[in-house]
Amino acid sequence: MHEIATVAELRERVEAWLEAGDSIALVPTMGNLHKGHMSLVELAAQHAEHVIVSIFVNPTQFGPTEDFAEYPRTPVMDSRRLARAKVDVLFAPTVDDMYPGGTEFACKVIVPGLSDDLCGARRQGHFAGVTSVVARLFNICAPTVAVFGQKDYQQLVLLRRMVRDLHMPVQILAGATQRADSGLALSSRNSRLDDAEVARAAAIYAALDRTRTALEEGAEDLDGLEQQAAAALEAAGLDTDYVAIRRAGDLGPAQSDTPRLVVLAAAWCAGVRLIDNVLVER
Ligand code: PAF
Repeated sequence: MHEIATVAELRERVEAWLEAGDSIALVPTMGNLHKGHMSLVELAAQHAEHVIVSIFVNPTQFGPTEDFAEYPRTPVMDSRRLARAKVDVLFAPTVDDMYPGGTEFACKVIVPGLSDDLCGARRQGHFAGVTSVVARLFNICAPTVAVFGQKDYQQLVLLRRMVRDLHMPVQILAGATQRADSGLALSSRNSRLDDAEVARAAAIYAALDRTRTALEEGAEDLDGLEQQAAAALEAAGLDTDYVAIRRAGDLGPAQSDTPRLVVLAAAWCAGVRLIDNVLVER
């Protein structure tokens, strides 16, 4: 595995691959890699000749009061893990290299509407930061395939819209959410919880799973189900940000007879914001 820290060096390698007619898969990450990321790497390796994993804690997707400084950074462990997987390049650029003119007036890619809904309503500017950095990574790495986790469901839907609207020649693949035995979705932010908090956080998946079962069994009162799930999170000692039942395809409003749904939740546990979701087919 090659570790590359500059856009210029990465471009040289990518251009050599493209000249040879080889395909490239990209797995964008912010590091602190866990089993969930490694499953995305495996999926990427099945779809292209070369795999690039990027590690970049992107400052433009963190709000001024958010956890950019505390976001877990484990470069040595990450590099060891990736070297053992089928990864050709670990791309870990600096902020200056990614944003050569600085971040304040950097060009943005914004997906209107949905970027301000759900997590975007609570995290102003977050998704503009995500789409803006992923567009840069696509330009730099020229992937034919890019893999993202289903755990960040709204991010996935937004990135698919970006690719569709801007005619970007890249296919977006979703990797299934990896879970602990308790059901808790694996996330880099879990490392900031102690054992008791991790146990409490399992209430998120439990509430989503109960809601999914109720929907599969024909429940129609979507507002009531959202309220019940939110109450279950509160009862477990979490601070609910939202629970929402939406259309799975585009996150638009769901009706009682919508066939493909997604149930999404965001909740705070001991100062850490956790998200999760489950798909429902009816
Ligand atoms: O999901 C993430 O880790 C980040 O939002 C991403 C896609 C790597 C962009 O910084």
